[in-house]
Amino acid sequence: SLHAVIMAGGIGSRFWPRSRRATPKQFLDVFGEASMIQNTFARLQPLVEPENVLVVTNADYIEQTHAHLPAVPRENVLGEPVARNTAPCVALAAARLHALDPDATMVVLPADHLITNVERFHEVLQAAAEAAQPQGDGPGPLVTIGIRPTHPETGYGYIQFDADGDTDGIADDGTDDAPRAHRVLTFAEKPDLQTAERFLDAGDFLWNSGMFIWRADAILAAFERYLPKVYALFAPLEDAFGTPREAEAIADAYERSPKISIDYGVMEQADSVLVVPGSFGWSDVGDWRAVHELSDQDEAGNRAEGNVILKDTARSFARSTEDRLLVLVGMEDAVVVDTGDAVLVCHREQAQKVKDVVDFLGVHG
Ligand code: GDD
Ligand code: MG
Repeated sequence: SLHAVIMAGGIGSRFWPRSRRATPKQFLDVFGEASMIQNTFARLQPLVEPENVLVVTNADYIEQTHAHLPAVPRENVLGEPVARNTAPCVALAAARLHALDPDATMVVLPADHLITNVERFHEVLQAAAEAAQPQGDGPGPLVTIGIRPTHPETGYGYIQFDADGDTDGIADDGTDDAPRAHRVLTFAEKPDLQTAERFLDAGDFLWNSGMFIWRADAILAAFERYLPKVYALFAPLEDAFGTPREAEAIADAYERSPKISIDYGVMEQADSVLVVPGSFGWSDVGDWRAVHELSDQDEAGNRAEGNVILKDTARSFARSTEDRLLVLVGMEDAVVVDTGDAVLVCHREQAQKVKDVVDFLGVHG
């Protein structure tokens, strides 16, 4: 049956000052009523039963995760004692699912993305889950979901795929043809700008959405081959789940694990990878500029949230606290976010650099 693994261990430091150590991006209601993680869970329905949803997050966020996702059984929220990036997170989830069901197929999703066309997203997921089933003896392929690139973004992975004389995939506009899987030729995680520009010109590259579908046995086999150290630490956990030594065994595996992403550790190396191109209004909502762009704006391109007055201001995003008035006069392309204890003022086009400041502050608290 189909399982889902929500990766929710990131800190989203580009959303400072709203994202803090206590409330990382996945718990923020960036777009309206529900938090990003609640939206991620909701859009899996009805494809994945709530009891088949696993969440892997930092141990500090377990209670907060329960509070946001009451429908997910408590034992399905796995806490990591230390952040080791996404490869250990995926290995842990795969070992746990494989222990429960050797035929499990798992969808791996980031907790903090935006998807506007849920119907199309479901079609793409279903096509990807089918493509992930084994043909013959070996383990099934690793399948990723690709997005048509619109600019040479250096924060994403790129997937060169075999269009196979069929350009339907890359032309996917989210309406017509059934989504289908293509063979991946190369996978390049976070290229430099020149390389990203070359990829865009080439025309047969997609962005990696960071969403993956594979059978638990297939990804475990890939770990054994490409990240044997991670495999050796996490595969034996299969026997520890549900026993009194579970927490200690997990903590021990994490302590000894290298810090590596699934993209660098497995996807870049693996040779039987498929991609299903999909257009379903996807964004990874990476910074304040993205939030501004994805929000409703007035005629001048402004987005104001809270107690805000704008005068002769254009293309700006402003968010105030409940009890303090925020006024912008004569501003263009500004982002101003007041959280009471901190104020961010930055140029819209430099919103990515907020992360550097938070790294520099080191506090993030
Ligand atoms: N449990 C857990 N533990 N989750 C983690 C950890 C960790 O140590 N580190 C990151 N995550 C979660 C994040 O919360 C996020 O939901 C997801 O894993 C992806 O991590 P990011 O840190 O946001 O990755 P990225 O954005 O740099 O790159 C990935 O996503 C891009 C698309 O948004 C890659 O898959 C790229 O190839 C892809 O283009
Ligand atoms: Mg991300």
